[in-house]
Amino acid sequence: MSELDGLKALVTGGASGIGLATARLLAARGARVAVLDLDPSGATEPLLGFKADVSDDASVRSGVAAALEALGGLDILVNNAGIGAAGTVEDNDDDQWHRVLDVNVVGMVRVTRAALPALRASAHACVVNTCSIAATAGLPQRALYSASKGAVLSLTLAMAADHVREGIRVNCVNPGTADTPWVGRLLDAADDPEAERAALNARQPMGRLVSADEVAAAVAYLASPAAASVTGASLAVDGGMQGLRLRPVGQ
Ligand SMILES: NC(=O)c1ccc[n+]([C@@H]2O[C@H](COP(=O)([O-])OP(=O)(O)OC[C@H]3O[C@@H](n4cnc5c(N)ncnc54)[C@H](O)[C@@H]3O)[C@@H](O)[C@H]2O)c1
Repeated sequence: MSELDGLKALVTGGASGIGLATARLLAARGARVAVLDLDPSGATEPLLGFKADVSDDASVRSGVAAALEALGGLDILVNNAGIGAAGTVEDNDDDQWHRVLDVNVVGMVRVTRAALPALRASAHACVVNTCSIAATAGLPQRALYSASKGAVLSLTLAMAADHVREGIRVNCVNPGTADTPWVGRLLDAADDPEAERAALNARQPMGRLVSADEVAAAVAYLASPAAASVTGASLAVDGGMQGLRLRPVGQ
């Protein structure tokens, strides 16, 4: 018998990158998995794909309802859909601030709100939010994105407190720079993509980017019965970027 046999999971942003790796891993461990995404076409068998925009409450409500009907309930919610933004506080206008906070923070609120009645009916209810190293370390040129992920970290703690007595655990993962289509797009947009990749690798104490599968493994642990006593936790999957202070190579 597999670890997640009989459990039902919903993964937002599950058609690409970290979300897709997570959806596939949860399914491989026995869960029945639905994906909510702006473009669910990447979520192929055995995943059930549903189209929804987490920045639109009506779209979320109908997408979550359709997914839960297909799954026949819900035990595991992975709030993973997110978008990036580059720049200092001088660089993004108000519309960009509202857009990124709307997707990255309020998006999680909308999906969780729609899923809570089903989670309350589960004997193994949990939520895992995709946060970021940007919530716990000051990174240059990431003011808006970092503010959104700092909010996700605090939201995770508040949700964990609100729902612990209902038997719903809430945790988050904090990935370092992960090798996903998103980072591929960032590299493509750089003046010198190879130099940019080398700089991102060098920023990691392990000297390489995190993989989507490594983040998925952490989400799957937090979502599993093995983590039954874990709530309000943030699990860094960042190659040591948050906690380690290395001397430069050779010193
Ligand atoms: N890649 C990294 O380095 C990294 C590091 C830390 C945290 N994260 C976080 O991981 C999560 C996933 O990132 P990724 O790198 O896998 O990105 P990705 O771009 O590969 O995948 C993101 C998915 O979310 C979907 N999505 C975007 N906006 C949406 C919306 N409004 N409604 C529904 N779906 C939407 C996209 O269609 C896409 O399928 C994000 O929350 C991101 O902030 C990524």
